[in-house]
Amino acid sequence: MKQTLLLSVLLFGSALAGGAGAQSVASQIPATSVNMPQPNTGQPSAQSTKTASPLPYNVPSRLPSSGTDNLQKSVAALQNTLTELQALQLQTKQAHWNVSGTLFYTLHELLQDHYEGISKYADDTAERMLSVGASSDGRAITIVASSRLPEIPGGFIDDAQVIQFFIYQYETVGQRIFQRIGDVEKADPTTANQLQEVEAGIEKYQWQMRAFLQNTPTDPNSGSDINNNTPVPLRGK
Ligand SMILES: [Fe+2]
Repeated sequence: MKQTLLLSVLLFGSALAGGAGAQSVASQIPATSVNMPQPNTGQPSAQSTKTASPLPYNVPSRLPSSGTDNLQKSVAALQNTLTELQALQLQTKQAHWNVSGTLFYTLHELLQDHYEGISKYADDTAERMLSVGASSDGRAITIVASSRLPEIPGGFIDDAQVIQFFIYQYETVGQRIFQRIGDVEKADPTTANQLQEVEAGIEKYQWQMRAFLQNTPTDPNSGSDINNNTPVPLRGK
């Protein structure tokens, strides 16, 4: 009986010691190495939505030129870009499947092309985060909570509606990435260069949607021919 009691005390004591040890290790993990955008970026983050990755800690081989503030700026720029690219991955596929109307096949093929390009940009962006020492958060909950992009309508979607939707979606994402390039280009030109490549791709996709509604000397291309005889409303047209 005495032996059992002694064993219980020993086991309880070692469990307590193990718990305290785990806590002290956790407190040593620097908060600056998580994928946490700076508050002053104005961007919602995985952290602000309580969706932090379970293992947001990594040892970088080379930090952006100096200091944790710069690291955080790079990570914020990359994480927010990743989240938006993943939203676009889902939306281009949704439209690829459900686009309907005269331009069905053209848009079906074009959207597949965009999906593949965006998927590569998303992968490059996520892996750049690992390169600078942070985990990347590609979870569905994070996309929903943080992308700040309008959702594409469900069901069959008209060709004119698809064109209008992606003109604005690509415009929004392109502008956001452009701003982030400015945030990081001085301290971390490598990340800035990579974001420039992504932005150029998104701008190209925006043109490829915009061109369907481009005025020419012989045809206003208002979109009325694919939109039930009504011009497709666009800002500035
Ligand atoms: Fe397909």
